[in-house]
Amino acid sequence: MNTRGAWFMRDIPVILWLAAAILIALLSPVFGSSRWLVVHLIALGGFTHSIMVWSVYFANALLKTKDVDPRSIQNIRLTLLQVGILAVVIGVPSLQGWLTILGAVIISGVIIWHAATLLHRLRIALPGRFRISIRYYLVAAAFVPIGALFGVLLARGLPGDWHGKLLVAHTMVNLLGWVGLSIFGTLITLWPTMLRTKMADDAERTSIRALPVLAVGLMTIMISPLVDLTWLGVVGVGVYLTGTLITYRPMLQAARGRAPHSFPTFSASAALLWLPVALVTLAVKMLFDGWQVLPVSYGVLTVMFLVGFALQMLLGALSYLVPVVIGGGPRPLRAGMRELNRLGTWRVFTVNIALIVCLLPVPPLVRTFVAIIAILALALTLVCILLGILAMLRTKRQLAAEMAIQGIPPGGVPPRKPADPAVIHPKLSKRQVVGAVVTVALGAALGFSFDPSAPGLEASQSVTVAHSTQGANALVH
Ligand code: HEM
Repeated sequence: MNTRGAWFMRDIPVILWLAAAILIALLSPVFGSSRWLVVHLIALGGFTHSIMVWSVYFANALLKTKDVDPRSIQNIRLTLLQVGILAVVIGVPSLQGWLTILGAVIISGVIIWHAATLLHRLRIALPGRFRISIRYYLVAAAFVPIGALFGVLLARGLPGDWHGKLLVAHTMVNLLGWVGLSIFGTLITLWPTMLRTKMADDAERTSIRALPVLAVGLMTIMISPLVDLTWLGVVGVGVYLTGTLITYRPMLQAARGRAPHSFPTFSASAALLWLPVALVTLAVKMLFDGWQVLPVSYGVLTVMFLVGFALQMLLGALSYLVPVVIGGGPRPLRAGMRELNRLGTWRVFTVNIALIVCLLPVPPLVRTFVAIIAILALALTLVCILLGILAMLRTKRQLAAEMAIQGIPPGGVPPRKPADPAVIHPKLSKRQVVGAVVTVALGAALGFSFDPSAPGLEASQSVTVAHSTQGANALVH
C-alpha cells in the first residue's frame, strides 16, 4: 500500500475538526455550551482521528505489514469515526441521549476494530524491534470503551458528588489512557527521529518497563473515585508520574545528542513539560478539593492536559509527520518545512506564556485577551500545516514539469536547487521569543485597560482558585 502523497481521510478531517474547535472557541459568547464542544472537537476530531491514522502508519513502519489493511478499509473506519464523532458532538449539547449512546458505541466499535487489526499485524509480523509501540496502542485502545461509557453516564446527569467522580474517571481514562499511552508509544521512535539524533540504547527496554507502571497508575486513578478514596487517586497519579518519568529518561538522553531546534520539537518539548505539571495539579486538587468541588475548577486541569500536553504534542507531531508522508524528495520536503517552521519559536512561546498567564489569578478580561492570543497562535499552526501541504504539492508539480522539460524520466534524478540553510537547520529564534513575550504582554495590557476592576493588581491578588478556573475556561469556553 502506498502511504506517500496527500490522502484526504488522513490529512483533512483533523484540520477541519480543529479549525471548527478554534472558530467556536473564538466565538464562545455566541455558543452556550461551547466549552464542552471545543474540548470534544479537539479530543475526538483531533486526537482520536490522529491516533487512528498515525498508529497504523507507525505499525506499518515498525512491523512491515503494509498490505494487511488497505487504504479503502481504513477509509471506511475513518468515515465511521467521523459519523460517531458527529453523533456525540450533536447528541451531548442537544441532550439527545440516544444519539450520544449511538455515537459512543460507534466510536468504541471503530476503535476496537482498529485495535483488532493492530493485534493481527503484531501476530503475523516477523520478529523485530519496537513491537512495544504497538502494545502501547493496544492498551490505549482498551481504555476507550470505558471512557466512552463514563462519558455517556456524565451526559445523562449524575446526582451528588458522582459528577465529579465520573468526570475524573472519564477525563483521565481518555487523556492519560487513550491519548497519553498512544503518545508514549509513538515517541519511542518518533522523538529521536524528530530531533534527527540517535535513540538512547535502552529506549526499547525502558518503554517495556514503563508500560505496566503507566497502566497500573491509570487504573488506580480510574478506580479511586469509584471507591471514593481520594488518597488512592493521589497514589495512582504518583505511579503514573513515575511511569512518565521512566519514559522521559531515554528521551532526555536523545535530546542531549541534539537539542530541540524546530517547531515540531519545541512544541513536543512544551507538551512533555506540561504533563508532570498537570499530574501534580491533579493530585493536589484531588487531595484538597474532593470529588464534589473538583468539577467547579476543572478547567485548570482540562487546559493543562488537553491544550498544554495533548494538543501541543499533536500539533508538533503533525508538523513533522505530514511533510514526511507527503514525500516527493528533498525539494518538496524543504518547501513544506519552510512553511511548517514559519514563526515556529514565536508560536510555541506565545501559546505557553499565554497558557501560564491564563492559569494565574489575573483579572477576567486580561485572561480573555491572553486566551484569544493563545487560540490564534494555535490556529496559526493549522494554517502553517495547510500551507506546508500546498507548498509541497506545488513543488512536486513544478519538479515534475522541470523534469519533463529536461527529458528526465519519472523516477530519475531531479534537477537540484541550492537549499536555504535556515530551512534545513532551523533553530530557536531569540527575536521570536522576545516577540512572544511582547505579544502576550500587549494582550494583557489591553485586558487591563478594558477591565473596570483593574486599576491595580490588588483585585487580581484576591482572586481565588475558582476564579482562575474561569480563566482557564476562557480558553476553551
Ligand atoms: C465517547 C465519547 C465521549 C462522550 C459521550 C463524552 C462526554 C462527556 C461529558 C458528558 C462530559 C461532562 C461535561 C460536564 O462537566 O458536564 C465530558 C467531559 C470531558 N471530556 Fe468527554 N466524552 C467523550 C469522549 C472524550 C474523549 C475521547 C476525551 C479526551 C481525549 C474527552 C475529554 C473530556 C474532558 C477533558 C472533559 C472535561 C471538560 C471540562 O473541563 O469541562 N472526552 N465528556
